Amino acid sequence: MKSVLFVCLGNICRSPMAQTVFEKIIEEKGMVDKFEVDSAGLHGWHEGDKADPRMKKHAEARGYDITHRSRPIRKEDFDKFDYIVGMDEQNIKGLYQLAKIEEHKAKILRMADFLQKISADFVPDPYYGGAEGFEYVIDLLEDACEGFYQEIKSNNI
Ligand code: 4NP
Repeated sequence: MKSVLFVCLGNICRSPMAQTVFEKIIEEKGMVDKFEVDSAGLHGWHEGDKADPRMKKHAEARGYDITHRSRPIRKEDFDKFDYIVGMDEQNIKGLYQLAKIEEHKAKILRMADFLQKISADFVPDPYYGGAEGFEYVIDLLEDACEGFYQEIKSNNI
């Protein structure tokens, strides 16, 4: 069993989308019972909320149903999860600040490091932008989640 926690700032756009894309991948590969997947935000502003309606709408157009409700990251997550995947440098910085020991820091990964087709350094925050930003987030996450899955399966991480 491998456990994965996707993390962004508010946990209403990027990380619940990443969770949903990754869940679809493991479902298609028949690997659902081999993984635990969740997402969280560095901030609790939207705790209990469903994903942003714009993110949900763009996700639905590609066949994804985001059901996750926002929650802030907790200290215990660093013990519980094998991989903690941040979306941008601000997320990564925040995660390193929360990770108190080396063992926890070693779990922190960058989503964009798993991109296979698209070249980008981070998954940008779509919250204050337009529709194309949400589409780009899904493009990035579909590419990176597949790459991330392959790296886990190949025991490279
Ligand atoms: P996310 O996007 O980190 O991808 O969920 C954001 C959601 C909410 C806010 C910022 C980013 N906010 O400022 O409330």
